[in-house]
Amino acid sequence: MTLQIGIIGLGFMGRCHFETWAKVRGARLAAVCDIDPRKRAGDWSGTAGNLGGSAARTDLSGLRIYARAEEMFADPDLDVVDITLPTYLHAEYAVAALRAGKHVICEKPMARTSTEARRMQAAAKAANRQLCVAQCIRFWPAYAVAAEQVRTGKLGLVVSATFRRVSPKPTWSWKNWLMDETKSGGCVLDLHIHDADFVLSLFGPPQAVSSQGSAAGPGGVDHVITSYRYADGKLVTAEGAWEHTAGFPFSMTFVLAGEKASLTLAEDGKLRRHDAKGTNVLPVPEGDGYLHELQHFAGCLARNRPSSVVPPGAAAASVALIAAEMTSLKRGREVRMKLSDPRGY
Ligand SMILES: NC(=O)c1ccc[n+]([C@@H]2O[C@H](COP(=O)([O-])OP(=O)(O)OC[C@H]3O[C@@H](n4cnc5c(N)ncnc54)[C@H](O)[C@@H]3O)[C@@H](O)[C@H]2O)c1
Repeated sequence: MTLQIGIIGLGFMGRCHFETWAKVRGARLAAVCDIDPRKRAGDWSGTAGNLGGSAARTDLSGLRIYARAEEMFADPDLDVVDITLPTYLHAEYAVAALRAGKHVICEKPMARTSTEARRMQAAAKAANRQLCVAQCIRFWPAYAVAAEQVRTGKLGLVVSATFRRVSPKPTWSWKNWLMDETKSGGCVLDLHIHDADFVLSLFGPPQAVSSQGSAAGPGGVDHVITSYRYADGKLVTAEGAWEHTAGFPFSMTFVLAGEKASLTLAEDGKLRRHDAKGTNVLPVPEGDGYLHELQHFAGCLARNRPSSVVPPGAAAASVALIAAEMTSLKRGREVRMKLSDPRGY
C-alpha cells in the first residue's frame, strides 16, 4: 500500500519535506495546506533557512491544495499528516490531525512545552495512531554512523563528547516567529535541541545539566553552552548559537573521544576516525537526514510499528531536557533531572 501524505506548512521545512517525499519509497505526496495564498499558488520564493536559499515557483499540479487545516484533516484519502508548521502550532495541529484519524509526522521540536508534548502523546494513544517526531540528526548519516560506533564499542569507553551547531540569526521565518522566544523557544529549543536530543539518544538522560548563555539581541537566548553530567564522569557538552550575522556559515560539528579511538565531524562535513593507526575518513550512507528519517517513518507506518530510532517519548524527553537547560540558564546553577531513559521506551 502506498501511503498518502499531506504536508501542512509550506515554509522552509515544508519545502524540504515536499522535495524529500518525492524520493521516499512507499509514499506519495497527495496534498498540501498553507494559510498563505501565495504558497498555495506555488510561489515559494523567499522561503529560506539556515541550510539553503530560496525556491522559485513550485509545480503543485496533481496535488489537493487546502487553505484550512480542518479541510485537509478531513480528507479521507490521506493516511499521514506531516506537520512543518511553526513550533508553537505543533501541539494544536498534531492533536487535531490525530483526532481526525491521521498518523502524524511532526517536525522537531515536538512542541513548545513539555505539557504540549504530553498532550500530543495522549492524543496519539487515544486515537491509536502513530506520532513520529522528525529528529533528523538521529538519521543524519555522519551522526548515525558515529552513534553506531559508540553503541558497538568501536571507540571503547567514551570519555568526552563535544557538539557544536552555529548559524546566522534566523530572520527569514514566516511573520518572524523564530525571533519570538514565546513562539520558537529561541536558539535553545529550536537549534540546540538537535544536539541535546542526540546526546540523549547516545548516552541516555543525564543526572543534571548546567547551562550558560547570552541574549545579545531580540528573540531570547541566542547562544547556549550546556554541560551534561553523567554518573560515569564523562564530559559531555553542546554549544548552540544563532547570534551570528547574515553571511556567517551554518555548521554542525562534533568531537567524540573514546579510549580506543576518537571521531570528529568537521566543518567540511567529513566524519573522521582517529586512532593509533592514523586518521581515516569514514564512509557514510548517501542522502541526508531528512530522506533517511522520512523513509524510516514510512517503513514504521507500513509495518505498523513505532520507531526504534525515535521511540515514542524520546522527542518529549528532549523537550523536557531543553526546559531543564532553560531553568539552569535562568537560575545560574546546575539543575538535577529525573528523566526516565527514552531509549528504553
Ligand atoms: N529539522 C530541521 O533541520 C529543521 C530546520 C528548520 C526548521 N525546522 C522546524 O520546522 C518547523 C517549521 O519551521 P520553518 O522554518 O519551515 O517555518 P517557516 O516560517 O519557514 O514556515 C512556516 C509556514 O507555515 C505556514 N503557516 C503558518 N500558520 C499556518 C496555519 N495555521 N495553517 C497552515 N499553514 C500555516 C506559513 O504560511 C509558512 O508557510 C519548526 O518547528 C522548526 O523548528 C526544522
